[in-house]
Amino acid sequence: MVFLQSTFRRLGSLLLLLFLFMVLLPNSAFALDDGLLENGDFEEPPSGGFGGAEEEMAVASSIPGWTTNGTVELVRSGQKQGGMILIVPQGSHAVRLGNEAEIGQELMKLEKGSTYAVTFSAARTCAQLESLNVSFHESSSLSSSATVDLQTLYSVEGWDAYAWAFQAMGVRGDTGRIAFRNPGMEEDPTCGPIVDNIAIKKLFNPDSSSKKSKNVVINGDFEEGPWIFPNESLGVLLPTNLDQDITSLPGWIVESNRAVRFVDSLHFTVPQGKRAVELLSGKEGIISQMVKTTQGKQYNLTFNLGTAGDKCRGGQPLAVMAFAGDQAKNTHYAPTGNMTHQSSNLTFTAKAERTRVAFYSVYYNTRTDDKSSLCGPVVDDVRVMSVSAGVFLNQITRDYHWLMMLLALMFLTSFRI
Ligand SMILES: *[C@@H]1O[C@H](CO)[C@@H](O)[C@H](O)[C@H]1NC(C)=O
Ligand SMILES: *[C@@H]1O[C@H](CO)[C@@H](O)[C@H](O)[C@H]1NC(C)=O
Ligand SMILES: *[C@@H]1O[C@H](CO)[C@@H](O)[C@H](O)[C@H]1NC(C)=O
Ligand SMILES: *[C@@H]1O[C@H](CO)[C@@H](O)[C@H](O)[C@H]1NC(C)=O
Ligand SMILES: *[C@@H]1O[C@H](CO)[C@@H](O)[C@H](O)[C@H]1NC(C)=O
Ligand SMILES: *[C@@H]1O[C@H](CO)[C@@H](O)[C@H](O)[C@H]1NC(C)=O
Repeated sequence: MVFLQSTFRRLGSLLLLLFLFMVLLPNSAFALDDGLLENGDFEEPPSGGFGGAEEEMAVASSIPGWTTNGTVELVRSGQKQGGMILIVPQGSHAVRLGNEAEIGQELMKLEKGSTYAVTFSAARTCAQLESLNVSFHESSSLSSSATVDLQTLYSVEGWDAYAWAFQAMGVRGDTGRIAFRNPGMEEDPTCGPIVDNIAIKKLFNPDSSSKKSKNVVINGDFEEGPWIFPNESLGVLLPTNLDQDITSLPGWIVESNRAVRFVDSLHFTVPQGKRAVELLSGKEGIISQMVKTTQGKQYNLTFNLGTAGDKCRGGQPLAVMAFAGDQAKNTHYAPTGNMTHQSSNLTFTAKAERTRVAFYSVYYNTRTDDKSSLCGPVVDDVRVMSVSAGVFLNQITRDYHWLMMLLALMFLTSFRI
C-alpha cells in the first residue's frame, strides 16, 4: 500500500513535470521549421529507386514527402532530352511537371494568421511560355495562388530561385497544403518546368521594431524576407506581388511585371546588414511601399545605393530613380574612394495620410562577364523621417532673417530717396 502510494506520488510529480515542460517549452518547438521542406530537394529516392539509364525518365509514382497528380518525372543532372541537357538547379535530382501536372505537400504546425514565404528554384525546358501556378490550400479549398512566369531568364545558369508568400488562416487547424502546378498545355507533353529546392520561412512583421525610431518605412533595411539557402548564390527573385499585406518581402510591393532580386551578404555586396534588394530590368522592376504620413508635414527620404558586387556595368551606369509622393530623384552611382555604396536623399511634403515611396533602376544593366544575366543597382536602408521641427524652425528663422535684411535694405533705400 505504502509502496503503491509513493509510486503514484512519483508518477504524479512526473506528470506535473512533463506538463510544465510542455507549457514552458518555447513555442518554436511546435512550429514548422524554417528551411527545406521534407524532401524539398528531391534527393530522397522513391520507393522503386531513381531510374536507370541517363536518358530514361523515372516517372514518379511515389516521391517521398510529396503527392503528385499528372505526369511528374524525376530528372537527374546530366540527363538529356533531345539534344539538350536538362537543368537541375541543386544536387543531382529535381522534378519536372508535365501538362497540368502537380506536386503538393501537406504542411503541419502552421501558425494561424502568420505569413509564410516559399522559396523554390525553377527552370524551363523546351517551351517558351512556361509558368508555374503556386498555391496554398486549406480545408481542401484554394486559399491563395499566383502564377510565376518563367519566360524571362534572369541569370545565365538557366534557372532561378523565386519566392511567393501565403497567409495561414487556420481554417483547418494548423495544417494546409502547398502545390506547384504546370498550367501549360504543350503539344510536347515533356516540355514542362523543372522544380527543385523548395523551402519555407515564417515571416515576422518588422512593424513594431521601427516604432522606436521615427522611420515610417516598414522593413526599410530589407532584413526580413524569404528564405535564402546559405549556399545558393543567385539570390531570390521576387516576382510581381501587388498585395502589401501578404508579400515575401514584408512591407513592400513588387508592382512591376518583372521581378527584383533579394540578395544576401554571403554572395553579394550589401550596403547594410545581411540583405538588400537589387533592382533588375530597368523601369520594369519597381518596388514600392505606402508609408504613413501626416498631411502637410515635410519628410526626408534617405536610402543607400550600391553595387551588388556582381560585375554589373554592361556599358550602362548604375542609377536609381526614387519617388516620394510627387517628388522624384535620379541618383547615379558614383561612390567616393573605395566605397561600395553611397547615400541619397529626397525631401517631400506629404499630401495625404499615406505616401508612396518607390524605386526602379534607370538603365537595363547586364553583367560584364556573361553579358546576359540581368543585374542592377542595390537599394538598402530606406528611411522616411519627418524633418524635425528644429530644422524646420531654423529654416524659417533663416528665411525670416533674409526678410529682415530685405526690409532693412528697403527702409534704407527709401531713406535715400
Ligand atoms: C488531378 O487533377 C485533375 C485536374 O487536372 C483533377 O480533376 C483531379 O481531381 C486531380 N486528382 C487528384 C487526386 O487530386
Ligand atoms: C547546399 O547545402 C546543402 C546542405 O547544407 C547540401 O545538401 C546541398 O547539396 C548544397 N547545395 C549546393 C548547390 O552546394
Ligand atoms: C492556380 O490553379 C488553381 C487550380 O489549381 C486555380 O484555381 C487558380 O486560379 C490558379 N491561379 C492563378 C493565379 O492562375
Ligand atoms: C535628409 O537626410 C540627409 C541624410 O541624413 C541629410 O543630409 C539631409 O540634410 C536631410 N535633409 C533635410 C531637409 O533635413
Ligand atoms: C578602402 O577604405 C578603407 C577605409 O576607409 C581603407 O582602410 C582602405 O585602405 C581602402 N582601400 C583602398 C584599396 O583604397
Ligand atoms: C542630400 O541631398 C542633397 C541634394 O541632392 C545632396 O547634396 C546631399 O549630399 C545629400 N546628402 C546625403 C547625406 O546623401
